[in-house]
Amino acid sequence: MCGIIGYVGPQDAQQVILDGLARMEYRGYDSAGVAVVADGRLAWAKKAGKLANLRSELEIAPIPKAHQGIGHTRWATHGAPVDVNAHPHVSNDAAVAIVHNGIIENFAELRAELEASGVTFTSETDSEVAAHLLSRELARTGELLPAICAVADLLSGAFTLVGITADKPGEVVAARRNSPLVVGVGQGENFLASDVLAFIAHTREVIELGQDQAVLITPTRITVTNFDGTPAETNTYHVDWDTSAAEKGGYDWFMRKEIFEQPKAVADTLLGRYNARRELVLDEMRGISPEDLRRINKIVIVACGTAYYAGMVAKYAVEHWTRVPCEVEVASEFRYRDPIIDPQTLCVTISQSGETADTLMAIRHAREQGAKVIAICNTNGSTIPRESDAVIYTHAGPEIGVASTKGFLTQVAACYLLGLYLAQVRGMKYSDEIFTITNELERVPGLVQELLDRAEEIYDLAHQLAGQKHFIFLGRHVGYPVALEGALKLKEIAYQHAEGFAAGELKHGPIAIIEPGMPVFIIVPPSGRDQLRDKVLSNIQEVQARGGRAIVLVEAGDQEAANRADQLIELPHVSTLLQPLVATVPLQLFACELAATLGHDVDQPRNLAKSVTVE
Ligand code: G6P
Repeated sequence: MCGIIGYVGPQDAQQVILDGLARMEYRGYDSAGVAVVADGRLAWAKKAGKLANLRSELEIAPIPKAHQGIGHTRWATHGAPVDVNAHPHVSNDAAVAIVHNGIIENFAELRAELEASGVTFTSETDSEVAAHLLSRELARTGELLPAICAVADLLSGAFTLVGITADKPGEVVAARRNSPLVVGVGQGENFLASDVLAFIAHTREVIELGQDQAVLITPTRITVTNFDGTPAETNTYHVDWDTSAAEKGGYDWFMRKEIFEQPKAVADTLLGRYNARRELVLDEMRGISPEDLRRINKIVIVACGTAYYAGMVAKYAVEHWTRVPCEVEVASEFRYRDPIIDPQTLCVTISQSGETADTLMAIRHAREQGAKVIAICNTNGSTIPRESDAVIYTHAGPEIGVASTKGFLTQVAACYLLGLYLAQVRGMKYSDEIFTITNELERVPGLVQELLDRAEEIYDLAHQLAGQKHFIFLGRHVGYPVALEGALKLKEIAYQHAEGFAAGELKHGPIAIIEPGMPVFIIVPPSGRDQLRDKVLSNIQEVQARGGRAIVLVEAGDQEAANRADQLIELPHVSTLLQPLVATVPLQLFACELAATLGHDVDQPRNLAKSVTVE
């Protein structure tokens, strides 16, 4: 949420910054802006709307060529998405510029204090206070690094700030608390950004900044301190994917590309999880011992959005395999209801970005109560795994489409690994039983590929249904979260009214909204759980009796279910617990194609941002 970047080095700063912002536009696209220092003067441009608007503005009114600068792409919180509220924000003497990601909670008092001292404000944002404060602290300290630390001390809430001043050519400064910031280490040039995507075309060497740390970069130097000015310890890592992973590679949308990357993403997530004795090993379990896992008596999964639905799927598998009670909760609700957590609780958090503020706050609360926290995360070096006791990385590669797809499938796969690991450690399953399940998991990438090879069938269905305004999704057991995820995808990118229900709940109310012709997607459990399957077959009839159009997702060969379908989507056979890994795929393809057919921006849907760093 909000993408920010800073650059210093020999290249054309404006070019580096605009390219970096283009890669981070998934974080927000309400407005964009850039500021540079050239010939000892600050120059800037900012524009409401997508980055393209800023580019046009820069063609009409160019800013000078420079070798240091900052940039921002915004997801509005305080102040409407209009030009004046766009970043950068600039001090009254036009010497200092900042960009900000997060929410400064005490901005009103700071603004009143600054106005009383004669400062003029030009925007309605919380961020602008930081520009004026940095100008004031710079006048006092004479150096950027102590000045930004002093500013950080005055702020409460969440922030990453990146700043430049006309008086310090060759320097860019930044500070972070509760919002992401990484440093890209180049040769004779350095970078700051919310996400490595912003500078991956230039360097894959990254320093992750810790909580309450500040950094000053010059072309040849990187100095990191804590807010009290003491030198800070930092972590450096190498990004193991390159620019091609961050490009569309011939697809029209990142989302479609990411759907098609799922076989590889799932396979990579499952890779290397065994030792020579054929035991499951999760090597990122650093802060949690097998002994800790044997002691737990409750598991709580917290996550948001699609990751929450992955958690709902996980609950079925984890309880079934481990017999440990497992709760799943939306992270934004978690800490406010005073949940019952103690050192025997294992908190599992799921987050693609590793930066979702609601999720971060939930795990901090869990740790304060003594719980151990395991993160399932896709982003190396992000805040949530850093603040967890252990992490299982999903190796999906960068996910850029705002609507999560490969994120979901790999999260479900990682949850299964965790569930099986717990069962192994707690002696609930023999290694050959575990091996049977992981063997089946390893077949999933091939099965997903089979579904993707038949994408045209789903696209045809999307074209047929493009005029519909309401969609219902039904599932039982693990099919229920799949139904919720199918509906969420349609809401997010096609802006259609879509609802997912537990199929059995239909008769308790939602059935009243079914009208003749309304498309109802129904996920039928595979054979083997016949009681469950038979119930869903009855649900198909309930829908049809009210005139609903039953679009049935069922495994190939289930003739009885197929005969009842108004429209059929055949799934490959897997066991019930693994069915979400295949059943979700057609629903992703459907949403993507429907949104594209309706002419929407599939990757940057209205009102949304991918990495939601505010609560
Ligand atoms: C946002 C995105 C969703 C995502 C959710 C959780 O709401 O729009 O697609 O599922 O955040 O994100 P996370 O990065 O924590 O998985």
